[in-house]
Amino acid sequence: MDIGKNEGLKIYVLADDYAGYNSLFLAQHGVSFLIEAESNGVKHWILFDTASYSEPILFNMKLLKLNPKNMDMIVLSHSHFDHTGGLLGIIKKINKNIPIFAHPDIFKISFSMEPEFLYAGIPPIGGGTKEEIERQGGIWILSKDPIRLVSGVFILGEIEREEKISFEKETSVHLYKIVDGRVVRDEVEDEIGLGIVTEKGLVVMVGCSHPGIISMVRKAIEISGVDEIYAIIGGFHLIDADSNRINKTIEALKKYNPKKIYAGHCTGLKAEAMFMTDFGDVFEKLYAGKVIYF
Ligand SMILES: [Fe+2]
Ligand SMILES: [Fe+2]
Repeated sequence: MDIGKNEGLKIYVLADDYAGYNSLFLAQHGVSFLIEAESNGVKHWILFDTASYSEPILFNMKLLKLNPKNMDMIVLSHSHFDHTGGLLGIIKKINKNIPIFAHPDIFKISFSMEPEFLYAGIPPIGGGTKEEIERQGGIWILSKDPIRLVSGVFILGEIEREEKISFEKETSVHLYKIVDGRVVRDEVEDEIGLGIVTEKGLVVMVGCSHPGIISMVRKAIEISGVDEIYAIIGGFHLIDADSNRINKTIEALKKYNPKKIYAGHCTGLKAEAMFMTDFGDVFEKLYAGKVIYF
């Protein structure tokens, strides 16, 4: 697949668990990014994830003077409610036919049992059912394979277990799903990320990094053939990881020599502090309302 190159990129953080200091923006649990990617002189708007609720996203978009009607595509990183809960509310504001890219298992029943039962998948009221989203104009494009969206921008597809680097083979989350009426471990195989080839190098965007951030970066390199990493952006899900796992992640990331690391959401305070110590100015914390220029 010829991925091509992006001609201009700007990323707006529409949702994060942190709103920044002295900020008018609203924080919430989850992430949502608006990717403005230029190709052939045209600006394309790609919404990556919809956090838990649509209202704070729409509020933040208003502050940023962004009109939801200009959205061209939606990508859902995985089924969890903190990435899909705002879908229905946002698609109602988009109010037109729009492709929604996700993994075929996005509608699975995913849940945790500790400390008590918690349904973790797409919430039917906020996120919408498959049919409800279709009625609002959503066109589901469900694929395990990479897909090129616009010049330079591509979906990573599923990161299969064999593709994962050794210390990321086990997911840190304790989630379950139901297969043929039986409860089995949910390894969140449905998580997909995004890669963007820019003048400065490869940009990798992730929702929660359940397959492991290093394995996702490696997959983006493999698909694009670009091994110069400019930026890695998203939630790295190290919030429940021990220092050993965080250190292994830092060491592996250093080998890729990223020029920027923008982490937030489920990265966790401990990992963020360790990133800051190790990476200095390369590391920046994500927050709602932040605009990343390239
Ligand atoms: Fe998450
Ligand atoms: Fe998640």
